[in-house]
Amino acid sequence: MKETTFVKKTVEFSKKLHSDIVKKLLVYERLDSTNSTAKELARAGANESTVVIAQTQTKGRGRFERIWESPGGGVYLSFILRPQIPAEKASLLPFVAALAVSRTISSYGLHAFIKWPNDVQVHNKKIAGILLESEVNKHTINYVVVGIGINLNIDIKNLPSEIRTKSTSMISELGHPFDYYEFLTTLFKQFEVFYSLFIKQQYERIIDEWKTSTDTLGKTIRVHTSAETIQGVAFDVDQSGFLLLKTEKGEIRKILSGDCLYFNEL
Ligand code: BTN
Repeated sequence: MKETTFVKKTVEFSKKLHSDIVKKLLVYERLDSTNSTAKELARAGANESTVVIAQTQTKGRGRFERIWESPGGGVYLSFILRPQIPAEKASLLPFVAALAVSRTISSYGLHAFIKWPNDVQVHNKKIAGILLESEVNKHTINYVVVGIGINLNIDIKNLPSEIRTKSTSMISELGHPFDYYEFLTTLFKQFEVFYSLFIKQQYERIIDEWKTSTDTLGKTIRVHTSAETIQGVAFDVDQSGFLLLKTEKGEIRKILSGDCLYFNEL
């Protein structure tokens, strides 16, 4: 698809899209990072449900300062959200986004699993990533940017070798390309479903749904946090989405955030 065609087609698509979660879709051929643009817009006062989408990114960002490879054929977008809920509940937003993405991918017949907190994997390989960036004032959320990258029509052979073995895509899994706009429509619907549960403060529902979609619980894992590396059995998540781990010594540790590795990935 030519870049100009992408912008035209996506703008046309947005005109027909009647979605509460996408009130305004800002379309770009190429951006450094949809999250960076969304953050600038949020700081300048952009409304809730403004969504930034790009055909490619030149400096796509992942968690832990990693690069998110963003060639043509992938989905790269960022939601600007301003949920009117206590800031301490924001820790469940990664679950909301991961559920929307995993359910969308699963609706195409693939078994997508969530790796705590919000990586989406198929056959133990990463197919999508989510990056949340927020600004909180005391106890209220000013904005949250939820950035989503999905390997849709990306031939994994074209990704750099260091991530090729750990990554997969929809086209590589199922052997045929997918309609980008049909996929976006499903993703937006699923995001709306789970975000509306969040707004209605149905936090337990979100956690229960997340538990049915994760393959982390029950596994022996290693988690790198900013302070340490912890190993143990992931046995539950609490009502804030924090991971509960039982170490070899039998200690129970609560992990707020970190990079989770399964043993086949070490
Ligand atoms: C991760 O798994 O490390 C998170 C990856 C998040 C990538 C998406 S692509 C759209 C948005 N813009 C970015 O720069 N990053 C997120």
